[in-house]
Amino acid sequence: MPERVIDLRSDTVTKPTPAMRRAMAEAEVGDDVYGEDPTVNRLEERAAEIMGKEAALFVPSGTMGNTIAVKLHTRHGQEVICEARSHVFNYELAMMAWFAGCVPRPIQAEHGILTWRLIEPHIRPLGPHWAPTGLIVLENTHNMAGGTVYPPDVFREICDRAHALGLRVHLDGARLFNAATFLGCPVHELARGADTVMFCLSKGLGAPVGSLLVGSRDAIAEARLYRKRLGGGMRQAGVLAAAGLIALEQMPARLHEDHRNARLLAQALAEMPGVTIPHPVQTNIVIMDISATGISAPDLSARLKTQGLLINPTGSHQLRLVTHYDVSETDCVRAIEIIRETLRSVRGQVPAA
Ligand SMILES: Cc1ncc(COP(=O)(O)O)c(C=O)c1O
Repeated sequence: MPERVIDLRSDTVTKPTPAMRRAMAEAEVGDDVYGEDPTVNRLEERAAEIMGKEAALFVPSGTMGNTIAVKLHTRHGQEVICEARSHVFNYELAMMAWFAGCVPRPIQAEHGILTWRLIEPHIRPLGPHWAPTGLIVLENTHNMAGGTVYPPDVFREICDRAHALGLRVHLDGARLFNAATFLGCPVHELARGADTVMFCLSKGLGAPVGSLLVGSRDAIAEARLYRKRLGGGMRQAGVLAAAGLIALEQMPARLHEDHRNARLLAQALAEMPGVTIPHPVQTNIVIMDISATGISAPDLSARLKTQGLLINPTGSHQLRLVTHYDVSETDCVRAIEIIRETLRSVRGQVPAA
């Protein structure tokens, strides 16, 4: 593999910035299980403030934040409505069954964006044969639908209608700052209406570890107990929170660069023979469909890797490219060249149909 590797597998691969490393080294710390870590406390206060909620809880991962949220809002034997390609349904090891005793009710939606019209027919009361609906989970941006963004009115309608029926809404906002950047609005406007929101510091915002769960004071007090039960009670976690504060305060302002790089990739890929881009590219994720090129996604991924370009397949003929702090525009131009040349050499090997 060449010395310089361009890693477009995910925005989770970013390394802490020099400012983060300095802040980590200098962080004031205490025992957070006793609530005595001043840096964690500051991070939680700022997160709640920025998201327009009463309180926040620092958790080690987005998966833990979502797991706690589902548990908070449901009882055993209920259904959780979510989108068919959502992270909570597909990539969290059946956590809603494992920890909360719930089953998902996945609904397919164009570009991953659910609407009240799609959700309403699936809402169930307790019946002789049915599990009742306990919760709705929405994902903004939608990872596997190519980083798509909920139109705020669509999101708010779902929240309002759900609340009118006594149902709660949890927002998996792992990349909510990307959505806010795309829409050009403050992030709290996209959190409004959701009962709880999970967002990640360790993706586009570049922190090494951590996510936050925000919501009402009561919900977060209960969430703290579930975090402990899951083994997520961290002690001198201020060393992580210090990097998280920089991620939260400074990194959202540069997300537009990742979005610009994603558009650059998408435009060039769309012009390659046999390649389509099935979802609008609004943020930092590009799904690339290569069904008409004659090779499979795992095969292309393996060939690109030998040339120092890392891209994950997400299906037999789809791959996902994610831009982030550690890839530049120059890297993206180089990535385009590598993909173009690789597909060209493959076309040379595949007999014409
Ligand atoms: C939309 C979404 N939600 C939740 C998560 C889980 O985050 P973590 O990897 O920190 O558990 C991810 C991770 O990629 C994600 O993309």
